[in-house]
Amino acid sequence: MFLKLNHKFLHGCKLNLFAIGLYLILSLNNQTHANISLMPDNSETITYGKDIYLQECASCHGKNLAGQANWRERDDKGYMPAPPHDKNGHTWHHSDHNLFLMTKYGIEKIIGKKYPNNMPAYEDMLSDYEIIAVLSYIKSTWPSYIQIQHDQINTRSNPE
Ligand code: HEC
Repeated sequence: MFLKLNHKFLHGCKLNLFAIGLYLILSLNNQTHANISLMPDNSETITYGKDIYLQECASCHGKNLAGQANWRERDDKGYMPAPPHDKNGHTWHHSDHNLFLMTKYGIEKIIGKKYPNNMPAYEDMLSDYEIIAVLSYIKSTWPSYIQIQHDQINTRSNPE
């Protein structure tokens, strides 16, 4: 009887440890991305971000952020062209957090299902700070009324 209880007790401990471990992993994981906040007013960051943009993103999204021609329609192979990152596109419809995830892990990560597309994932090419810098540069080019709307999208998606 004692042994049995003891066994149960130990088993319970293991489960608890497992749960605590899982909780820690999940919360750490959340933490690394929870504080994503673009810095469109930080001139050092956006200067750095502009260099990265020209090197990594401009070939598809355009040197002046205008996107590819006919970006609203699928190309001959059925893929969407690169959309603009200026006020005419839908980049500013997404929160800081989602823009970061899309750039780091690709579009599929955000929609959570298979979706063949031509947007590269930058996980192995850019550091988190570099991703924040390039997105901060993009945001810094938006007119202030768009930046304000984008701030509101962030507040709504991350109420605290
Ligand atoms: C090889 C071409 C290519 C390069 C290089 C590229 N992108 Fe893209 N990007 C795309 C395409 C194509 C899409 C649209 C994918 C779709 O919706 O099917 C896209 C979509 C996006 C989106 C989502 C926009 C929205 O409104 O939904 C973001 C954000 C983005 N790219 C950021 C970047 C950043 C930042 C860089 C540089 C670090 C970059 N991209 C480099 C092709 C590219």
